[in-house]
This record gives sequence, C-alpha cells and structure tokens, in this order.
Amino acid sequence: MPEALGKFIVFEGIDGAGTTTQVEVLARALLAERRLVHTTREPSAGPIGSLLRLGLSGRTTFSSARHAQVMALLFAADRLDHLACEIEPHLREGTVVLCDRYDLSSIAYQSATAGDDPLAFARWVRELNRDAVRPDLTLVLDVAPEVADKRRRQRRSAVELYEDAALQVRLAELYRRPGELVPGDPVVVLDGNRGVDEVAAAVRAVLAPVLAG
Ligand code: TYD
Repeated sequence: MPEALGKFIVFEGIDGAGTTTQVEVLARALLAERRLVHTTREPSAGPIGSLLRLGLSGRTTFSSARHAQVMALLFAADRLDHLACEIEPHLREGTVVLCDRYDLSSIAYQSATAGDDPLAFARWVRELNRDAVRPDLTLVLDVAPEVADKRRRQRRSAVELYEDAALQVRLAELYRRPGELVPGDPVVVLDGNRGVDEVAAAVRAVLAPVLAG
C-alpha cells in the first residue's frame, strides 16, 4: 500500500467516556480550520459492523460457549473491511480520519470478558489485528466508571452488551495501562472527567504536534 498521507486518530475509553462527543467537537474545529476531516467509528457501518451492532443491542446472539473469541474475530474482520473500504482511501487523500474506537477496544473488551487468562487472550487479539494500520495517535479518555455510568443514564439509550458495572470498572483499569495492551503505539491517556470544552482543549493540545507533522 502507498504510504498514508493523512493522519489516523483514534479515541478510546469505557462506555460513556465521551469519545463520540469529542470526535464530533474535534471534527467541527478542524473543519472550521479548513482541514479535510472524516469521522467514523467501530463497529463500522459495513456489513460485519452492522451484524456486530445487532449483537451489542441483543437483537441477535452469538455462541455463548466461546463468545469473546467469536466477538474478537468479528471485530477484527470488521476492522479490516473498514480499513479497506473507508479509512485507507481517506488517508490516501490526505484526510484526517477520526475514529471512535479501534483495536484497543478489542484488546480491552474481549480480553476482559474472555475469562481465564486475559493477558494471553490479549496477545491473541493483537495477533488477529496484526494487519490493522497503526494509528498516528490514540487518545484514551479516562473517566471514572461512576461518572461514565451517570452519563450513560442521561443518554437514556438502551443498555448494550458490555454495559455492566463490574466489567466497566475492570475496563477502566485496563485502559490506564495502554503500554501493556498496544506496546509501541503512541497513546495518550487524558482525564475525561472534566467538561466537554476542557477535555476538547486537552485533546487539541496533545494533537497539535501530530497534526502539524
Ligand atoms: P459504543 O462505542 O458505545 O457505541 P454506541 O455509542 O453506538 O453505543 O459501542 C460500541 C461497543 O462495542 C462498546 O461497548 C465497546 C464494544 N467494542 C468491543 O467490545 N470491541 C471492539 O473492538 C469495538 C470496536 C467495540
């Protein structure tokens, strides 16, 4: 593949961390500066992503025997499809691609729900995603599980598969150790407990050198 010209920026965090809001706020700001911007998310809008959304909302169910494995495989397949059909074409055009979740979500969520040996499982998930283009920067919005829980309630959307209080606490802990989950990737963990504008300002400060480069 020819070298990517754009920038690939990923937002991550537990459910209710504010990734969707921060992607929208950042996209508006970059558009106002006349930059080419494309926003997207995972699960993607493609065929495998749509199937995953049915699974997340409970409208379809997958094997409960090896549920985490099945989910990790589907998320990895969706990711390669998303890259080929949407992300890479935009990067080749020099666009800044802002993606709401990427393979750090698979490593965190599927490992945290895999049971026995989460670190061995995380290695397997990394291997599944070995062909996934590495982000220029991943921003983890670190939010206290009780704050995220309150935000989810305010949103009043239907409860999804992974929105369990104890799991969200384990995920928040995992997201604070990105170096162990995606070694070698540039990842910054930001305090996401603050108001939207304050977090957005922190995001801009961290991104400035990446977008300038
Ligand atoms: P979320 O990002 O909260 O989207 P929405 O705002 O539409 O509900 O939901 C996506 C869920 O999927 C979230 O619980 C995390 C989970 N997920 C994984 O478990 N693995 C992955 O690889 C990805 C991308 C998401």
